[in-house]
Amino acid sequence: MDKIAVTGGTALHGTIPISGSKNACLPLMTAALLTDQTLTLTNVPNLADIGTLSNLLASLGATIDHDREANRLNLRVARLSSPLAHYDIVRKMRASILVLGPMLARDGAGTVSLPGGCAIGARPVDLHLKGLEAMGATLDLRDGYVHASVPRSVSGGRLRGVSHRFPFVSVGATENLLMAATLAKGTTRLVNAAREPEIVDLADCLSSMGAQIEGAGTGTIEIEGVDALSGTEHRVIADRIEMGSFMIAPAITGGDVTLEGGRIDLVSSLAGALDAAGVSVEEVPQGLRVRRRDDRLNPVSIVTEPFPGYATDLQAQMMALMTLADGTSSITEQIFENRFMHVPELARMGAQIDITGNTAQVTGVESLRGAPVMATDLRASISLLLAGLAAKGETVVSRVYHLDRGYERVEEKLRACGARIERISGDD
Ligand code: UD1
Repeated sequence: MDKIAVTGGTALHGTIPISGSKNACLPLMTAALLTDQTLTLTNVPNLADIGTLSNLLASLGATIDHDREANRLNLRVARLSSPLAHYDIVRKMRASILVLGPMLARDGAGTVSLPGGCAIGARPVDLHLKGLEAMGATLDLRDGYVHASVPRSVSGGRLRGVSHRFPFVSVGATENLLMAATLAKGTTRLVNAAREPEIVDLADCLSSMGAQIEGAGTGTIEIEGVDALSGTEHRVIADRIEMGSFMIAPAITGGDVTLEGGRIDLVSSLAGALDAAGVSVEEVPQGLRVRRRDDRLNPVSIVTEPFPGYATDLQAQMMALMTLADGTSSITEQIFENRFMHVPELARMGAQIDITGNTAQVTGVESLRGAPVMATDLRASISLLLAGLAAKGETVVSRVYHLDRGYERVEEKLRACGARIERISGDD
């Protein structure tokens, strides 16, 4: 397994291009199941998770043509040759559950293994399943699989539109039901829906495939089911989590970095927190320019929330920054249980962090020291790299396969700004 070695202490200067969003691209790829025509996605990031989902879609009958150089992906599911999403693929990535809504909408049947993914808490899929049940699906949970079908008695085997309120906000469940509803009979109203930019991107793509959707990006989405969807070409939005992670790089090292393709509307909560910490985020023609206002970092308290609140996927990175602030910050994780696995690793580098329940008190230290550390999940991995960029001496991050699930060419992008970082290939 690869490792990444970082020698800290260099202020970053330069430009970092922002890739297409992994979390937008995954549901967009599953939207290909809704039509027998070709869906073309551009600005597709080259990431392990995209390959995993491609394999899953291929196993269901998709023909896939992926031009990695051009970041272009053509997907065509002329027919669903197999309605079974196998455990061997699904266990690698939780987002695989997103094939269920489209399969049910298209063919009235589908079997999907219960998913795996990052080890950040229990992460059930009950909200997805309850929503699909409300739309008329019959579900049978057996042998680790969800066997789903729509009985003939329900709109002739077709999902039916419903008014459905999510008990709490779920990005994935909103995406699954949104896709399912595009081909359902009648009108679906999703209340307490997620408002993330990835939902808006998905709705934009579905609309250009012929879906009738209103309210994406608000808490209530209305979908009028249609009989069929067509193919289209769609450009994946910029990755706000990659963007936010790289915004924290010049914040933690000092320096001056421009994020090419950066958009303030996608990271406004983070930009507010950085401003309070003493880091300026400025809109420039190429994107966003980020630099520290002075040597000192102020402590900042954050609470993770659904969009437009502070993103859970940027919590670990902010914690890395706060380990060097002048005072004590509090970081509360409200979205996922067990999402503080980076804390003991940051502590190995000299960070002072106390956890009580779902809140971490971070008391800033003068400096961090390089150390061997282990990546535990996707966003924890980048927080360790960020800490390593600021630490004295060398930090070696092992298990970087987590990082490769979500960050494209991370060493190359940081090295271009002066970071001393290299990948060490080989066994752990
Ligand atoms: C998506 C993102 C992930 C991000 C998360 C929250 C993708 C591929 N992943 O994950 O990076 O961290 O949004 O912004 O887009 N829950 C249930 N039952 C369900 C579904 C969710 O209890 O059926 C819980 C989860 O355990 C979690 C919370 O709801 O505590 C929110 O999860 P959700 O918004 O669904 O996250 P994902 O869509 O899995």
